[in-house]
Parts: sequence; structure tokens; C-alpha cells
Amino acid sequence: MLNELGQGFHIMRTRMVYQNILLDTRDRISVLTINRPDKRNALNDATRNEILHALDSLESSPDSRVLIVTGAGDKAFIAGADIGEFEGRTSLTQRDTMKGRRIFDAVEDFPKPVIAMINGFCLGGGLEFALACDLRFAGDNAKLGQPEINLGIIPGGGGTQRLTRLVGEGKAMELILTGDLINAAQAKELGLVNDVFVIGELQDRVRALAARIAEKSPIALQMAKEAVKTASRTNLREGLDRETDLFCLTFGSEDKAEGVRAFLEKRKANFKGR
Ligand code: COA
Repeated sequence: MLNELGQGFHIMRTRMVYQNILLDTRDRISVLTINRPDKRNALNDATRNEILHALDSLESSPDSRVLIVTGAGDKAFIAGADIGEFEGRTSLTQRDTMKGRRIFDAVEDFPKPVIAMINGFCLGGGLEFALACDLRFAGDNAKLGQPEINLGIIPGGGGTQRLTRLVGEGKAMELILTGDLINAAQAKELGLVNDVFVIGELQDRVRALAARIAEKSPIALQMAKEAVKTASRTNLREGLDRETDLFCLTFGSEDKAEGVRAFLEKRKANFKGR
């Protein structure tokens, strides 16, 4: 919902007024748009706080089953951390700013599927944001990279860890040491994005996929996400044990009863998230 002045402020039910993001929930799909196109949607502290607030509000909303994150305008998904905020910061003051809750961890721990819809530059903290998401789809105009090395710093939002786990050490090292950008096709080849669509079709294709996921049991989705995430957090034995626990937990849901019954009755399941 835009305000009467049409200034792009978004008003939540909680009356929180967002100035740097837009949030729209329709047909069980929420779209969070980073809305600083003049700054290529760079993430400043205010934007990070609004993202955290939005995640908290969506977590408890039964109307929202899948989250898509994207950037406003036609140039960028997210061009990284707001470099202006780095100026004058020392090791200690930078460490202080990173003590609170991190958006990357909040996205990774979010109990519903999160899809990065990469509609342009996806750099630095932008790529780290996408890496924290569960699925990544890019427009054919996308350019991705970890260019921090060009600023005399390194990725600090999980890039050295999540990128390495996703594409392997050799490729992650190359991207991080050179700071070079890659295009969408190269990113797909690396397994960095799940798929690439013509930019004009990106939104429809991603929404269609999100809609299919939104029809599943939210409980099973949450368990599946946690189980898969466990694979990169622990060893195989513990991961398999966790999978067994989560698998058995799904057997306690009404959705499991409905899913099994629907199959046996040869009809489509109607999952309620209970
Ligand atoms: N932080 C702060 N401001 C940023 C930004 C960032 N990460 N990325 C872009 N901007 C700002 C620019 O300073 C410029 O602001 P201005 O109009 O007030 O001068 C505006 O966004 C447009 O950027 P511009 O460089 O003119 O656009 P472009 O389309 O030619 O290039 C990028 C886009 C993303 C390639 C380029 O802006 C860039 O390299 N950004 C930095 C990327 C980066 O290093 N990210 C990692 C940060 S740790």
C-alpha cells in the first residue's frame, strides 16, 4: 500500500512506515523490494533494520508462505553495502555495527522459503544476501560478484563461507580475489543461480515458481529448509539424525494426514499449515 503522497512509503498493519523497502503480500506470496534505486539499492543501516522488521512481521503471518526479494528499478538487485557508511569507520567501530542481528542470518533462518529475484547488479552484500536465500533466479541482465577486494576489504556478510559452500573453493577464491563480475549465464554454469530468464519474464517466471511452492505444506517447507541447511552446518551423521527428527516431526501435522489422504483419494491436497 502506497501512502497518499505516493512517495513510495509502505505502511504495514503494525503501522511501521518503511522508507527504504516495499512490502506486498498477495496470493500467499510476499515480495520485499529494496527501494533505493538511485543508490542501486545499496544496503545502509536503515534499510537493514527495515528488512529485519519486515522479516519478523512476515514470519508470523499465515497469509505469507513464500518470500521473494528483489530490487527496485531496472539496474540493480542490490549493489552491496552502502560504501558511504564505511568511510571513517575503524576496525572497532565496524565491529560494533556488526554486533546486532545480521540480515543474512535472519534470511537464512527465516522459516519460510526465500527466493532472490536478481534483476541487475548483485554485488558484495547483495550477492551475500542472495546467497543467504534458498533459491536464486537471475534476469539475463544480471551481473554478479564480490568486488570488496577493490575497496581494500573482504566480504563480511558470509560471502567467503556461503559462496565457497555453494560453488566450491576454487571458483569462490577466483571471484573473491579478483573482484571480477560474472554475467547471469556464467552464474548459472557455476550453480550460483538456479536459472536465468529474459529480464522481461523474470517476475512472472519467479512468481509462478513461488506460487507452486506456496501450495505445499508450510510445515513441510520449513522442515525441508532446515534439513537441507543442516547439511552445510554439520557432519553427515548429525545431519542424517536431524533429517530423521524433522521427517518424523512432519508426521504429527494435519498437513501430512491431508497430503497422504489426498494422494489415496486421487485429488489435490489442500494444505492448511497445521
Ligand atoms: N554504496 C553506496 N552507493 C552506491 C553503491 C554502494 N554499494 N553502489 C552504487 N551507489 C551509488 C553511486 O555512488 C551513485 O550515487 P550518486 O548518484 O549519488 O553519485 C549511484 O548509486 C549510481 O551509481 P553509478 O556507479 O553511477 O551507477 P552505474 O549503473 O554506472 O554502476 C555499479 C552501478 C553497481 C556497477 C556501481 O555503482 C558500483 O560499482 N557500485 C559499488 C559496488 C560495490 O563495490 N559493492 C560492494 C560494496 S562492499
